[in-house]
Amino acid sequence: MPHPLPLRAMRETQTETVQVPRLSDDLAFLDIVTEWDMSTAYQDWKTAIVVPPTFLPASLPRIIAICNQKGGAGKTVTTLELAMALVARGRRVRIIDADPQHASMSAWLQFSYPEGLPAEDRKNLKDLYFDDDVTLRDITYGTPYEGLYFVPSFPDLTDVESKQPTGTDTLLRFQLREKNDDVDVTLIDCGPRLGPLTASALVAAHDVIIPVQAASGLDVMGAAALDRTIATVKKRLNPELRIAGVVLTDFTRSTLARKIGGGLAKRYPDAVVVPARQNVRIGDAQLARQPLRIFESAATTVLDYDRAADILFTRGR
Ligand SMILES: Nc1ncnc2c1ncn2[C@@H]1O[C@H](COP(=O)(O)OP(=O)(O)OP(=O)(O)O)[C@@H](O)[C@H]1O
Ligand SMILES: [Mg+2]
Repeated sequence: MPHPLPLRAMRETQTETVQVPRLSDDLAFLDIVTEWDMSTAYQDWKTAIVVPPTFLPASLPRIIAICNQKGGAGKTVTTLELAMALVARGRRVRIIDADPQHASMSAWLQFSYPEGLPAEDRKNLKDLYFDDDVTLRDITYGTPYEGLYFVPSFPDLTDVESKQPTGTDTLLRFQLREKNDDVDVTLIDCGPRLGPLTASALVAAHDVIIPVQAASGLDVMGAAALDRTIATVKKRLNPELRIAGVVLTDFTRSTLARKIGGGLAKRYPDAVVVPARQNVRIGDAQLARQPLRIFESAATTVLDYDRAADILFTRGR
């Protein structure tokens, strides 16, 4: 049994229990294979999830950075839908919005400050970097979804990049690893830059998940730049960091998507490669300020993130 969160800011505002889609044969789950198929003729080729034999599912608690320096790669969608898949499985999940852009997770995901908390005490991620007295718990708020907690940020988070307060590199790691006994999984939604904020997420994380728009050559190039940063972070500050997964976002079956998936599976031979199928209603879900899982629970994209959650964390499949 998870123990109750002793968090002032997390006083339960959560009313909605998130569901796993009911398993039935007509659900269009993707097959799971051990390698990306480039040999079958295209007309016979089937989109599938790759789980290499060398892949080791993650133990809990786990900290995962969702990164690609290319904008619009699907980081925020992947963070939220993976988080929703995990809470549907009874996990306690914290999302950290580490992206200073105005239109980031803090605009999409609903969250609430505790009742009666004065405006000046409504701290966010920036305060963690600049105020010694603020802890991660102080900035973790409830959402409408049972088991999902949220650390918001706002455009002034860029101050962290321009001023780089003492300990910028390691502060998030210290807060998450030394003081984080309250959630099973922390997902860090990074911004489209490889600056100090993304570096601090990579220093904190056990795993990286790289979203790539399935038909975008530029996203693949963004991942190449990320590779270099990950190599540096591993050498200097976090030798255990691993690339656990690649999510091919906005996926539709095409020769280009097949080629990009094949290239990434080859580049990250120990990582899971998950196509997250296209759903044209994601924008509507964002406008409604709902995760896709709530807005359109029967979407195949939701099933794909369900599979990703099962594969990434379950032992002894
Ligand atoms: N499975 C999907 N189906 C359809 N569209 C998708 C899917 N996944 C992502 N998208 C589209 O890609 C857009 C960009 O995704 P997202 O905001 O997650 O990218 P990002 O990497 O977080 O961007 P940024 O770098 O600006 O933070 C979404 O608004 C949505 O329109
Ligand atoms: Mg984003």
